[in-house]
Amino acid sequence: MSAAQSWMITGAHRGLGRALTLAALEAGHSVVATTRGERSLPEHERLLVHTLDVRDREASHRAVQTAAEHLGRIDVLVNNAGYGIIGAIEEASEADTRSLVDTNLLGPLWLSQAVIPIMREQGGGEIVQISTVGAVGTMPLLGLYNATKWGLEGFSEAMAAEVRPFGIRVSVIEPGALNTDWAGSSMRFSAPASAYDELRTQLFGTTEVPWPQGEPSGGMAADDAAGLILARVAAQDDQRLRVLVGDDAPAQVRAALDLRLEDYARDPRFSPE
Ligand SMILES: NC(=O)c1ccc[n+]([C@@H]2O[C@H](COP(=O)([O-])OP(=O)(O)OC[C@H]3O[C@@H](n4cnc5c(N)ncnc54)[C@H](OP(=O)(O)O)[C@@H]3O)[C@@H](O)[C@H]2O)c1
Repeated sequence: MSAAQSWMITGAHRGLGRALTLAALEAGHSVVATTRGERSLPEHERLLVHTLDVRDREASHRAVQTAAEHLGRIDVLVNNAGYGIIGAIEEASEADTRSLVDTNLLGPLWLSQAVIPIMREQGGGEIVQISTVGAVGTMPLLGLYNATKWGLEGFSEAMAAEVRPFGIRVSVIEPGALNTDWAGSSMRFSAPASAYDELRTQLFGTTEVPWPQGEPSGGMAADDAAGLILARVAAQDDQRLRVLVGDDAPAQVRAALDLRLEDYARDPRFSPE
């Protein structure tokens, strides 16, 4: 790929998507950034802001076509838009479930489908999926979010092998905690059932949902995470599919994998060796 690339980034109004957009511009790239409504991005000669709710399949396909026409090519697609829901599986409404699956799983699927022929035609590219360490393990009351990101990783791992012959690389980014609005104003909450109040108290110290909006959640600054993702895209000899981002990420993944291995090891035919 040339030094100056053409990027498309979803969910760019806030958090990691915004930080990635600014970092890509800073690095000399051209960007089509999508937001679903409000726009906080500054004017820039190499930036086009396009409206997209990634739940809309047709609009996602059109947005990729628009980006390709505007940029001339798409070197990097970043599927970043996403959010979480706090609630037990029993508590999840159909509408909330469909919206989360449409956003975190199907949105990246539609956008990946739309960009693959363009990247194949131009002889290569990179699809960056913003996943999470929560796509390796799970947490009670975050199961729907886990499910969408496990699904994202499932199709992305298969897709990586499918598109490698076309010169397209897939990167699955697994951040630990990021200091964004994800756990704050972006978080959605299922209607609580009292049967899970004790669990809510154990995990969060309160039965109250939505959470009171307090201090930012902590974790890695979005700018720092964006820098690591840009460095990963630039490192074309990096053979990893999954890329851990954040100091807390390796231990979280290790703990989740250990739990799975322990579970399989209860089957006497299974040897972790
Ligand atoms: N923060 C963390 O600790 C953390 C850890 C691991 C992974 N992640 C992942 O990182 C990604 C970015 O999240 P963030 O931390 O930057 O959170 P954020 O600050 O809440 O930003 C999320 C962005 O996604 C957009 N979005 C949500 N639903 C959308 C939809 N249907 N269509 C288009 N855009 C949509 C939001 O748009 P609006 O601004 O219009 O609401 C927002 O701009 C997400 O995929 C998240 O799951 C976050």
